[in-house]
Amino acid sequence: MKHLSYKNKSLQFNGADLATIAKKHRTPFFLYSEETLVGNYQEFAKGAQAAGLIDPLVCFALKSNPNRELLRTLAAQGSGADIVSGGELRRALEAGIPPEKIVFSGVGKTEEEILFALKAAKKGIFSFNVESIEELDLINSCARRLRKRARICFRLNPVVKPKTHKFISTGNKTHKFGLLEADILTAVRSPRFWTNSQLVGLSVHIGSQLLDLGATRRGIARLCEVALKTNIQLEFLDVGGGLGVDYDPEDSQKLPAVADYMALVAATVEKHFNSRSLYRPRIVFEPGRRIVARAGILVMKVLRNKVSEDNHFVIVDGGMNDFMRPSLYGAYHALLPVKQAKADRTCHVVGPICETSDCFGSDRQLPAMKSGDLIVLCDTGAYGYSMGSNYNLRGRPKEILMNRKKKLRIVNQAQPYEELL
Ligand code: LLP
Repeated sequence: MKHLSYKNKSLQFNGADLATIAKKHRTPFFLYSEETLVGNYQEFAKGAQAAGLIDPLVCFALKSNPNRELLRTLAAQGSGADIVSGGELRRALEAGIPPEKIVFSGVGKTEEEILFALKAAKKGIFSFNVESIEELDLINSCARRLRKRARICFRLNPVVKPKTHKFISTGNKTHKFGLLEADILTAVRSPRFWTNSQLVGLSVHIGSQLLDLGATRRGIARLCEVALKTNIQLEFLDVGGGLGVDYDPEDSQKLPAVADYMALVAATVEKHFNSRSLYRPRIVFEPGRRIVARAGILVMKVLRNKVSEDNHFVIVDGGMNDFMRPSLYGAYHALLPVKQAKADRTCHVVGPICETSDCFGSDRQLPAMKSGDLIVLCDTGAYGYSMGSNYNLRGRPKEILMNRKKKLRIVNQAQPYEELL
């Protein structure tokens, strides 16, 4: 891991000594690197351009990490936003992301949220990514009430099965997401939906943490086919998010390079539009994880050890309320001791929450660790803080951002008890 390395047997995060940082901040805390965040965003945005895509728009998926300062940083790089709630829309606007770069996804947009999004700017937001016919009807009637025109994008359910955890797979008929081709084409031809709406794009998002891009290619191919069948010159095709990261070093071999992913998108679009059309739609992306997962770590402290016959538990002060992925999806995240020493024991690293699934790693090889020693859970920048909770009435942890000059800034204070009780 490029941003995590040992120097004099002490773990460094982007060249800064974690033991020194942790002296000043109570654990657990999230630590983010602006350098990694911006590097990942640039790799993505430049990759899209290098693949020859015309005027690509990268809309960062706020759900992966809606921290204000991280968003401001991304906004300054030119990022747009993929949002799924009125809260995320407000956060994106507040961070300086212009409405004309915001796509609104999600199956359950409320009337209040739709009205707010329509009012966000003269022309409203970039697009409503519509997931049902009833939703389309509601958006059209809200726009009529406001005497506006809503920009509509249908989210296609391409009926493909990606290789990922079933909880984060979204592209099949049994999933609540997207519309089937036949329903999209019927709606396109029904004038009653279009009095105050305009179809400007089609989108697809088949799932998250994808390392195998076979289903991604099929999903984008389906997107192109349906786009051509609408007989409308659509402004854009939104290929969603989903590009995975190698949380487990064993996955490094499988990890698709951003450049290869972009080449796949460009080639698939070109293949479909080449003979049938002179125009090329703009391509929109909604990445979350690939931009921010690697930019964050969760720094925790060992509270104590406990040995039950041959089970050695290392009990840490972070819990599943701070970071849910291992307990919710059985996800693997590397654990690194801040003090480097010989990893001579097999341990279960567990939190203080009263659930057996509150475990950050089973059977991990670690050195002897005692009360007060620091341990880092890696790659927690995406779906970390954003999925946290107050379970067991625990306050939310602090978030710290290291800027490109290695200066630290608290970008979210630890939640005080007064707010909890
Ligand atoms: N666009 C849409 C419509 C989405 O539903 C999502 C993620 C994204 C974009 C961003 O996907 P990404 O590039 O981050 O894979 N909590 C889970 C992930 C849930 C993803 C939900 N949708 C996890 O921790 O793995």
